Parts: sequence; C-alpha cells; structure tokens
Amino acid sequence: MLDMRRTGGGVGAELRGVDVRHLDAAGFAALHAAWVAHGVLLLRAQTLDDAALIGFSRRFGALDLAPVQETGRRFVPGYPELYVVSNVVENGAPIGSLGAGEAVWHTDMSYLPAPPMASLLYALEVPPSGGDTWFCDMHAALDRLPAALRARAAGHSVKHDGTYNSGGYVRQGVTPTDDPRQSPGAVHPLICRHPDSLRPMLYLGRRRNAYVVGLPLEESEALLDALWAGIDAPEISYRHRWQVGDLVLWDNRSTMHRRDAFDAASRRVMHRTQVKGAAPPAAA
Ligand code: SIN
Repeated sequence: MLDMRRTGGGVGAELRGVDVRHLDAAGFAALHAAWVAHGVLLLRAQTLDDAALIGFSRRFGALDLAPVQETGRRFVPGYPELYVVSNVVENGAPIGSLGAGEAVWHTDMSYLPAPPMASLLYALEVPPSGGDTWFCDMHAALDRLPAALRARAAGHSVKHDGTYNSGGYVRQGVTPTDDPRQSPGAVHPLICRHPDSLRPMLYLGRRRNAYVVGLPLEESEALLDALWAGIDAPEISYRHRWQVGDLVLWDNRSTMHRRDAFDAASRRVMHRTQVKGAAPPAAA
C-alpha cells in the first residue's frame, strides 16, 4: 500500500516512504497506476546515481536518447539517455541546457512524431530560490474550455515547432524561422485521447511557432491564443519547489510544464530521462 497524498495543487501527487531503487513488482505497478492517474508524481529524498536513474526509468519502457543540447553536446559520457538541465559552466562550456532563464510551458520533445510518454527529472543541485517547475493538467485544460472554443479546436491538428527549445534557444542544426508555417516540426491532433486512461486531453506542445494546419495564419494564431489563455489557471496547476534528491516524473502527454528563472550566479543541476512513447491518437 503506497503512502500517497495530493500535492495540494491542481495536479499531481506525492509518494512517501518509497526508495525507487528497491521497489518490487507490485510496488512499481502501484506507482505506475498513480502516475497515470495523477499525471505528476513527486518522490523526495531519493539517492540516485546516473545508472540508478536510468535503471528505474527503464521500468516504464525503453528510453529515448537525450535531445542534443543547444550547445551541440548530446549527453553525459557513457549515458546517452541522460539530458542535463543546468546553468553551470565548466571549462568555458555549459554542462547542460536551458540556462538560468525561464523555460516556457511545453511538452518534452513533442516536435517529434513519437514524443516521450514520460520524463523523469532528478535534482542534484538546486538554487536557494527560483527555478521552481510548474505543471498543468491537460485533461482539466480541455474540460475548462468554453463549448464553442472546444468545438472550434475539434478535428484540427497542430504543428509542434522543432526550432526553439523551451529556453528560447535554437536547436542544433536547425535554421531558425519565425514563420510557423515553414518551421520544422511534427503534426499532432489538438485534442488527443490518453492511450492508457482513454481520457481526452488538449495537446498543445509549445506556443512559439505553433501552427494549426490548414488555417490562414491569423486564424491559427487566434485559435492558439484562445486555447493557451487558460493554461496558467491555478486550479489546474502545481508549483514544485525543488529539494536536492527530489525525483519528479510526469506524464508527458497529459501534462505540460514550465520553469521559473533563477539567479544565474547560483547552481542548478538536474538529470532527466525520457521514456519512449507513441504518437498521441486523436480523441474520437
Ligand atoms: C524540462 O523542461 O524538462 C526542465 C524543467 C526544469 O528545469 O525544471
């Protein structure tokens, strides 16, 4: 029996008394069910080296390789699955991605045809203030849409931009463009069905350079602005204040996340894995 309690925000739950290195099959099944049900799971006071983080992540399924960092570095030597999120500079080069600025609302790697189903983020070093990560529930975001807006979105697909990451940096090897119709990316239905729970959800990815396929640009922008307007609502979001040893895993289909800026003079080091997923299907 898991000791689980809601985060107190609009999404997510905390599991207490669990060391993910020593979870038996029944314990993992319960954790997995909680992850699908709550979208975001917090486990504090974990002690994970890189191999243990990867080992636990693999219990959810095969892992995607880490995306190429904006600096051109791909991974931690020996661990190509690990994505480093950090502002720390060593020997004149950043060791990770996203710097110390805000990372805007997004779904990880939704610019790919088959985005990861889950991401697991583990805190190694955290700043004394700032750098909080916010999560929002995309089932609730859909439920809260006015009926007319939901009807406008139904049946449409959106191109998820592959030019910029959530920190606003241009991805390696991409020629930047700010014309959403021309930018590279993958097309996904705006309203999807969660493959496990079968619940419908809004699937937005990122706002910048998004494009509702087939619409005149102004109509696409207006529809996307209207859909994004409700994302910051406190009723559907949870603000996570990090402690060293926190492991947060999120359902990368039914939630989005963003990160607050923090003082660039302080250090923040996080290691992330991403579990392979499939293209999210359209809701009926
Ligand atoms: C991410 O977008 O995966 C990183 C979020 C964070 O830095 O808290």
